Amino acid sequence: MATWLITLVFTFILLALMWGIIYITGGTKYAYVHLMYIPVMFAGYILGPIGGIFIAIVAGILVGPLMPMDVETNIPQPFDTQLTRTLFFILIGGIIGFASNSLKKHLIKIHDTLAEISYVYGNTLKTYARMISARDEQTSFHCERVAYNAVLLGKAYGLTGPDLDALYWSGLLHDVGKIGVKEKILLKEGKLTPEEFEQVKKHSEIGYELIKSLSPQLLPVAEGIHSHHEKWNGSGYPKGLKGKNIPLFGRILAIVDVFEALTSERPYKEPWRAEEAIQYLLENKGVLFDPELTTLFEQLYNDGKVWIYQKSIQLVHSLIPTSFNKEILKRT
Ligand SMILES: [Fe+2]
Repeated sequence: MATWLITLVFTFILLALMWGIIYITGGTKYAYVHLMYIPVMFAGYILGPIGGIFIAIVAGILVGPLMPMDVETNIPQPFDTQLTRTLFFILIGGIIGFASNSLKKHLIKIHDTLAEISYVYGNTLKTYARMISARDEQTSFHCERVAYNAVLLGKAYGLTGPDLDALYWSGLLHDVGKIGVKEKILLKEGKLTPEEFEQVKKHSEIGYELIKSLSPQLLPVAEGIHSHHEKWNGSGYPKGLKGKNIPLFGRILAIVDVFEALTSERPYKEPWRAEEAIQYLLENKGVLFDPELTTLFEQLYNDGKVWIYQKSIQLVHSLIPTSFNKEILKRT
């Protein structure tokens, strides 16, 4: 209703402005009279056929009985000219109004379809991520916790909007490449042989290729997956990148993934207490982990915002995208 009223007020200002220009330029016998189509078309587009026709009638009156044909000599206009012009205004206002309504209906349909696709797409990827983590993590919501804490940290670092969404999906799918690693290696309880470890290390590259192949627009998501095992001092894999050469998503995921791995229960280890895991991160601040991000994560932990395996917290649901980023889908 407020939009309707604002549009109406704006249209009347346009009408007055056009009337002024037509009057100053000498009256309706000059071509400037056609300027009246601007408010008529505007009203039709925004307000639909009723608004378009209503403004067309007002425009017809303004440049009809309320405007001489020639201002200087004050010659009035013949009635049939006024009538024909008003009918043209009505025709244009009405046509644009109907066309605009039909366009809006189509756009709403496209928007709804896109929302549905993005919801299904998002849920499919979520299920996919859960299946992967269920294969070796055996802890519920492992990937959701990594994704949530990554977004929490990303937001504290200053990321916003689509970047946070991409970070969420990067966190959720960080280990998706484990689909390409043999189960007997993933589930092995003893120490891995160097060859087996080499196999496990491939998961970040497999995940990167997999997500990148879905769409080039998912490159930031894929890069986070690719670099989530890189270490600040260059001792990580697959590329051994150092410091800020490691993509931001990778540096964020490295912290939250290690925190999650340490604090959750696994068949081969007891869960660490959260304070111990934070202590581990702090000891390796500037060694394995980005120092600035580690400090931020510690602050988030101290504020009770971090989602921890052993403890339920009040989740900030606005941080969790309910569907796949529609902006990304639109461009693919
Ligand atoms: Fe991983």
